[in-house]
Amino acid sequence: MDRKRKHLIRLGAGVAAGLGAAALTWAGLAANAEEPADPKGDFEAQIIGGGDVEDGQYPWLVGLGSPGEGTAYERQFCGGTVIAEDVVLTAAHCVEDSAAADLVVFSGAIDLESADVVETAVADLHVAEDYNDPIAMSNDWALLKLAEPVDVEPIGLATEPEEYDLLETAGWGDTGDGFPTTAQWVEVPFVSDEDCEAAYPDEVDAASMLCAGDLENGGVDSCQGDSGGPIMSPATDEDSDEPTQVLVGIVSWGYGCAEAGNPGVYGEVADFNDAIDEVLAGWAE
Ligand code: ARG
Repeated sequence: MDRKRKHLIRLGAGVAAGLGAAALTWAGLAANAEEPADPKGDFEAQIIGGGDVEDGQYPWLVGLGSPGEGTAYERQFCGGTVIAEDVVLTAAHCVEDSAAADLVVFSGAIDLESADVVETAVADLHVAEDYNDPIAMSNDWALLKLAEPVDVEPIGLATEPEEYDLLETAGWGDTGDGFPTTAQWVEVPFVSDEDCEAAYPDEVDAASMLCAGDLENGGVDSCQGDSGGPIMSPATDEDSDEPTQVLVGIVSWGYGCAEAGNPGVYGEVADFNDAIDEVLAGWAE
């Protein structure tokens, strides 16, 4: 329900904006489906504003889709993050109306048309009990217990809410120029609770949401289809074999995508950590 409302507002906002160049670009692309002259070379044109994920960059990044015929690309509708060999963290709004049998996870390849994509069934599903409480989109997280382990390196979860500088988000969502087969990633500036509450009065539950985006210029963001996927702190040690990235949030919502003044909003993983551990403990029994 709320997803629809946000979508409607997104269309309204795009037209009403007339303000930032990014909003105009987005509205223009959405309305006319124009191709930028050089999509790959246009820094404004990708996840929104990003580029291709490289092999091994985010091994834990997975696609969430429906079982059945067709390629993974055709069936993917959300993102997710592997947090244990047989557990995926995603957004509640991606799976709230689904049963485990309605879901599959795509891992092992950043290109969803690749023959290397591994499709894994979902055996159990836990949607946050307090999703949409105290306000719409609060606690937007869910866990999927996989039918079998995936051969993927899990990412660790943030344990304390922190102020960040730059974060990274990734997924197969809309780039402003359609849906890519290869996952895209982009660097997004962290937005403080205070600034996010000012951007979206009465709609931000600072306890369970965190925000990221370029408030002033727009141009970089996650978008429709990225939901459920990760926003991560950047690697601190490029030479390390150990993952130094941490899962900070889950793509959740925003008005439009990459519009100046309208940051992306993410479920704040540090706030769900204990509740996640409890579910995992129950599944391990
Ligand atoms: N709700 C969207 C989805 O289901 C994600 C929207 C993220 N929007 C944003 N501006 N960051 O895919």
